[in-house]
Amino acid sequence: MQERRSLKVGIFMPNNSGSMSISTYKPDPDDWTFESNKKIAQAAEVAGMDFVFPVSRWKGFGGESDYMGNSLETMTWAAGLLMATEKIEVYSTVHVPVFNPVVAAKMGATLDHISNGRWGINIVSGWNKEEFEMMGIDMLPHENRYKRTEDFIKCLKGLWCEKPGTFDFESPYYKVQGGNCRPQPVRRPHPPIVNAGQSDDALSLVSRNCDWCFTAPINIDAAATITKDVKKRAKEAGRELRVVAGIMPIWDDDPDLPLRERDRLVKAADPVAIDNWASGVGLESGSFDEVTYEMFAFGAGSYPLLGTPDDIVAGLRDLYDVGVDGVLMSFLRYQRDTERFGQEIRPRLIKAGLI
Ligand SMILES: Cc1cc2nc3c(=O)[nH]c(=O)nc-3n(C[C@H](O)[C@H](O)[C@H](O)COP(=O)(O)O)c2cc1C
Repeated sequence: MQERRSLKVGIFMPNNSGSMSISTYKPDPDDWTFESNKKIAQAAEVAGMDFVFPVSRWKGFGGESDYMGNSLETMTWAAGLLMATEKIEVYSTVHVPVFNPVVAAKMGATLDHISNGRWGINIVSGWNKEEFEMMGIDMLPHENRYKRTEDFIKCLKGLWCEKPGTFDFESPYYKVQGGNCRPQPVRRPHPPIVNAGQSDDALSLVSRNCDWCFTAPINIDAAATITKDVKKRAKEAGRELRVVAGIMPIWDDDPDLPLRERDRLVKAADPVAIDNWASGVGLESGSFDEVTYEMFAFGAGSYPLLGTPDDIVAGLRDLYDVGVDGVLMSFLRYQRDTERFGQEIRPRLIKAGLI
C-alpha cells in the first residue's frame, strides 16, 4: 500500500484588515499591511510551514470593524512575498469573472518563474454581488458560475500545458484562438490548482478539475463527510484529489485561556459585517447554512481547535485520520502564533509522525 503523505500546513493570511474573525476583538489590528504579511510569511517559512494563502476581496463588509475594508490584491501580493521568501509556496486567489484566462495564465506563469515553481492558484467563482456591481459585472446563476469556472480552468491548463500557440477553446464563456503562454510555468504539468467552493456544483467541478479541495468544515464529522465525498467523486473521474480543512487553532498550556479568547471574539462579534458577509456567501447554494453567528465571529467559520499544544496535535491527528491532507490555519495573533507554531506545535507534529 502507498504510504500516506505528511499533513500539509499553511496559513490563511491576513492580507485583508480584520482577518479572519468577524469581530472587533483584534489584538493585532494592523497585521494586514504588506510589511506585516512579509514578516508572517518569513516566520511561516522558519516554522517549517508549506504554504501561505490569501483571501481575494475587492470591497469590504463594513460594520464597526470595517471588516476587510483594506485588502491587498493577491497576484501582486504573491509577487512580493515570493521575492521575500525562499522555500514556502505562495498562492494567489483569482475571481473568474474579473480575469481573462489568457491574462491569468500569463500572470501565473510569471509568478511561477519569479519563484522557481513555488506559486499556486485558488480559482473562485465569486459570490459577493456588491463587488461585481462595483465593476459593472452581472453575476451568473450559481450553476452557470461553476460551468464558467470549469471552462476557465480548462483554458489555464491548455495555455500552461499545450504547445504554445496551439491551444484553441470555444464555449459560451471563452474563446481562445492559438492560445499562447510563453514562458509556460516552471512547475510541470502546471502549478497546483485549488477551488474552495462548498456546494454540489463546486464539489463536482473540483473533483474533475482541481488538485486541491479547500473546505470549511464546521466539525470533525463534516470534515469526514466532505472529504470522503469529494475523494470518491475524484476517484470516479480517475483522478487524485487532496483536501485541506480551514481551522483556527488557539492554544496555551492553560487550557482555559483559548476558551476565554474564543468568548472574547464572540462577545465582540460585528453583527453588521457578519450579516453583510453571510447574506452573500451561501446564497443560492446553502453552502454556509449550518454556520452560526458565533462561528462567523470566531474565524469566519474556521473550525475551532482550542486547548493545550497536545490538544491541537490530537485535533490535527483526528483530521488526518478522516482523510484530510492539509490544514489552512487562521490565527488570532498572526505573527506570534506563527512563531509559536514552529516552536510548540511543529515538534509535536513531527513526534506524532504527522509531518
Ligand atoms: C478556504 C476558503 C477560501 C476562500 N477564498 C475566497 C476568496 O478569496 N474570495 C472569494 O470571493 N471567495 C472565497 N471563498 C468562497 C468560495 O469560493 C465559495 O464561493 C464559497 O465557499 C461558497 O461555496 P459555493 O460557491 O460552492 O456555494 C473561499 C472559501 C474557502 C472555504
